[in-house]
Amino acid sequence: MGVFPLAAPPPPPPAHVAIIMDGNGRWALGRGLRRIAGHKRGAEAVRTAIESALRLGISYLTLFGFSSENWKRPEAEVRDLMGLLRYYLSNEIAYLNERGVRLQVIGDRARLHPDIGALIEKGERATAAGRRLTLVIALSYGGRSEIASAARRLAERVAAGEIRPHEIDETMIAGHLETCGIPDPDLLIRTSGEKRISNFLLWQCAYAELVFIDTLWPDFTRQDFEQAVREYHGRERRYGAASG
Ligand code: IPE
Ligand code: IPE
Ligand code: MG
Repeated sequence: MGVFPLAAPPPPPPAHVAIIMDGNGRWALGRGLRRIAGHKRGAEAVRTAIESALRLGISYLTLFGFSSENWKRPEAEVRDLMGLLRYYLSNEIAYLNERGVRLQVIGDRARLHPDIGALIEKGERATAAGRRLTLVIALSYGGRSEIASAARRLAERVAAGEIRPHEIDETMIAGHLETCGIPDPDLLIRTSGEKRISNFLLWQCAYAELVFIDTLWPDFTRQDFEQAVREYHGRERRYGAASG
């Protein structure tokens, strides 16, 4: 009789998980409530995602909070969403600090109200020492617009004689995105059954594993997060190499 084999060590967690938090409106409408009720419950589910990420040992969690296209929504809904954002940016900073979570916001801040911009800067400064988890929130964010900004900045640098066109490579483009310094997402989760990217992290998700789940965002649980990570561990990431 041989010795029992040692249990294999658990696989390392994905370093970076990105989530498209979708389905707040349907959650509310299904209960005969106004959409804002879904957004409120959705905002509460953010804590579930943060706590799951901490428990799983994930280093970066990026949440899609508001897209550059979401400005097209009715004024009243946008106002409600901005109100929630103000509330959380004012009240959740201590919660993040207690857990060693660093906040970083990506997206077009110029379109946000100046007082929200100020709250974001304050929150980022106040949590800058967080080392357990970097929480990236995408607000007024669009992947195409982010890539266009990077192209513009590179063109300006060429025009200023700082760089030459042939020096522009993938690393340089990545370095001019707002996610500069953050590893690409390993796992992208979208809730609510929709199977699309909706202009989220287009460049960065080139080789992300995609997991689509039916849960509506306000109902998102720790088990949903863990199940998505299990599915991720079952995938073979090939990056274009031969299988097997
Ligand atoms: C996601 O929920 C939150 C935002 C896009 C701000 P939705 O509001 O898109 O919910 P559905 O897709 O209409 O159910
Ligand atoms: C993507 O969801 C944006 C966020 C979750 C913040 P949407 O609900 O806006 O995406 P579409 O319109 O269904 O593609
Ligand atoms: Mg939606």
